[in-house]
Amino acid sequence: MKGILLAGGSGTRLHPMTLAASKQLLPVYDKPMVYYPLSTLMLAGIRDIMIISTPADLPQFKRLLGDGSQYGVRFEYRVQPSPDGIPQAFLIAEDWIDGAPCALALGDNLIFADHLSLSLQHAAKRSSGATVFAYQVRDPERYGVVSFNEQGKALTVVEKPTDPASNWAITGLYFYDHRVVDFAKKVKPSPRGELEITDLNRLYLDEGTLQVERLGRGCAWLDAGLPDSLMEAGQFVHTIQARQGMLVGSPGEVAYRMGYINADQLRAHAQRMIKTELGRLLMQLADTVPDQS
Ligand code: DAU
Repeated sequence: MKGILLAGGSGTRLHPMTLAASKQLLPVYDKPMVYYPLSTLMLAGIRDIMIISTPADLPQFKRLLGDGSQYGVRFEYRVQPSPDGIPQAFLIAEDWIDGAPCALALGDNLIFADHLSLSLQHAAKRSSGATVFAYQVRDPERYGVVSFNEQGKALTVVEKPTDPASNWAITGLYFYDHRVVDFAKKVKPSPRGELEITDLNRLYLDEGTLQVERLGRGCAWLDAGLPDSLMEAGQFVHTIQARQGMLVGSPGEVAYRMGYINADQLRAHAQRMIKTELGRLLMQLADTVPDQS
């Protein structure tokens, strides 16, 4: 399975912070925002990842992430000339996807949960249909919303409903089978002039192959698209890391635990930021956790 990290858009809800910087490169506590969804894709077992951003911001992502070899994965980069909608990513990446199944992670979404890697790897291995993750929120009207029937099967998906049928929001992490590009081509612009990811999900729902995994109480899903949520996300990461001494959203750690890089590669990676707590924790990981590579 391949994976797309979508990190474009104009970040207008974070102006003036995003007037001269990409939203997805803003700090969430001690790491750039994009590290978190990138770690999620890597945790799903995905090693071919395309990063899509604006013409102005893409060079900064290349500078930050390189070709992926430091994490034992492969990064491709491509421009989205204007933010015409999330499913456009599949049209931009069509030749690269080349008929493979493909996941998509929004660059401003952070998911944190126990045993997350198992559900992600399970979603990545499903051979047909689509898998999305839903999370209960207080303000569902801000998101794509899914409703369920009494048997827990998904009934409807609606983008930013004024009168939400449930409080289950669909998170910005999607797994699709090999037909995703064909399905994306069928999506028509919505009244706000964008291609909507919810319309793509509805195509799978209508044929009965949309699997909706509900994230429970023990999970945190944060989208860092507003000043308040950006600060809350940073505080959340700080709380876990300071209390447990465990890293959240570190692609270096994921690469090592998944066996994509060996202990020496992790040490070299950690050495580059050894003046930080992050660098020290990564160094400690290389010394204490067995090499899986
Ligand atoms: O966060 C989850 C929600 O993300 C879902 O529940 C919604 O169904 C989905 O439509 C989306 O809603 P948003 O209102 O958050 O979408 P937004 O336009 O803010 O875009 C989300 C991210 O994707 C944002 O970081 C910018 C990036 N993006 C967006 C568009 C439309 C792009 O890179 N290119 C685009 O064309």
